[in-house]
Amino acid sequence: MTKKQAGKSKDFDKYYYYHRSVQSPANDVKFLRKTYKQIRGEAPETLREDFCGTFSICCEWVKLKKHHQAIGIDIDPEPINYGRNNYYTELKSSEQERIQIIEKSVLAKDLPQADIVAAQNFSYYLFKTRKELLEYYKSAYAGVKDGGIFVADCFGGSQCMEPNEEETDHGDFSYYWDQDSFDPVTNEAMFYIHFKRKGEKKREKMFTYDWRMWTIPEIREIMEEAGFKETRVYWEGTTEDGDGDGEFKAVTKGEDCEAWVSYVVGLK
Ligand SMILES: C[S@@+](CC[C@H](N)C(=O)[O-])C[C@H]1O[C@@H](n2cnc3c(N)ncnc32)[C@H](O)[C@@H]1O
Repeated sequence: MTKKQAGKSKDFDKYYYYHRSVQSPANDVKFLRKTYKQIRGEAPETLREDFCGTFSICCEWVKLKKHHQAIGIDIDPEPINYGRNNYYTELKSSEQERIQIIEKSVLAKDLPQADIVAAQNFSYYLFKTRKELLEYYKSAYAGVKDGGIFVADCFGGSQCMEPNEEETDHGDFSYYWDQDSFDPVTNEAMFYIHFKRKGEKKREKMFTYDWRMWTIPEIREIMEEAGFKETRVYWEGTTEDGDGDGEFKAVTKGEDCEAWVSYVVGLK
C-alpha cells in the first residue's frame, strides 16, 4: 500500500497516522550525528535503535551517510514487520544491507555494540522501578562502544501531572494525546493515542502507554550508576511564540515549562 492509499484505505493503518503525528526520524538522526560529533570530535558510523518499533530511525540513519550502519531492537514482531513492509522496501539495496533488525528484548545479554545507542519516544518509561531502569541502562552501557554515547529522550512539565487530552489537527485527521491519569504516589501515568479521520468516528486507544514519569535527575543518577562517566542534558530552545524550536543544546539549567521534551546523553 502506498502512503496515499494508506490515508484513504478503509482499513485503518495506525502506524501510518502515528508516523505522521509523532515521528520525525529525519530530524532525529541529524541530532544524533551532530551530538556524537560535538562530543567525540569525529563522525559516528553505527547506531543502535533500542525499542525500534517500525525502525524508521534505522532507515533514516542509513540514508544519511553511505558508511552508516544501523541495528534495530524490538521485542514485538508487529511493528518490525510493518517497518519491513513499508519503510525498508523504500530503501535502495545498498541502504537495506546496512540495517540489521533483532527481535529481542533490550535486556538481552548478547546485543551488538554501536557508537550511539538511542532510546526514543520515552520507551524506557515502561520500566517502573529503579531496579528495572538500572538493568536497562546497564544493558545500554554494555551496548555503547568505548567513547560512544547513549541518548535517551524524556518529557515532563506540570501538564503531565494531571489528566488532560490534547488534539492536533492534521487537516485530513486529528491526533489526540490523552493522559488518562497521574498518580503522585508512584509517578505512574497512563497515556493513549486516539485518531479521528475527517468524517469518521474517533478511533480510541490505538496506542496505550502505561508508564512511570521519570525525572531528569533520576535518569542522570541511574545512568551514572550504570557506568556512564558523565551525563549531559540537551534542552530545546523556544520560538518567539514560546513554542519549542526543535534545536536542542547542552544546558545545566532548564526552564519551568508546562510541557517539555529533552534528551539526556550518557558518555561512556
Ligand atoms: C513507545 S513505542 C516506541 C517505538 C519507536 N521507538 C518509536 O519511536 O516510534 C515502544 C516500543 O518498545 C517495544 N518494547 C517494549 N518492551 C521492550 C523490550 N523489553 N525490549 C525491546 N522492545 C520493547 C514495543 O514493542 C514498542 O515497539
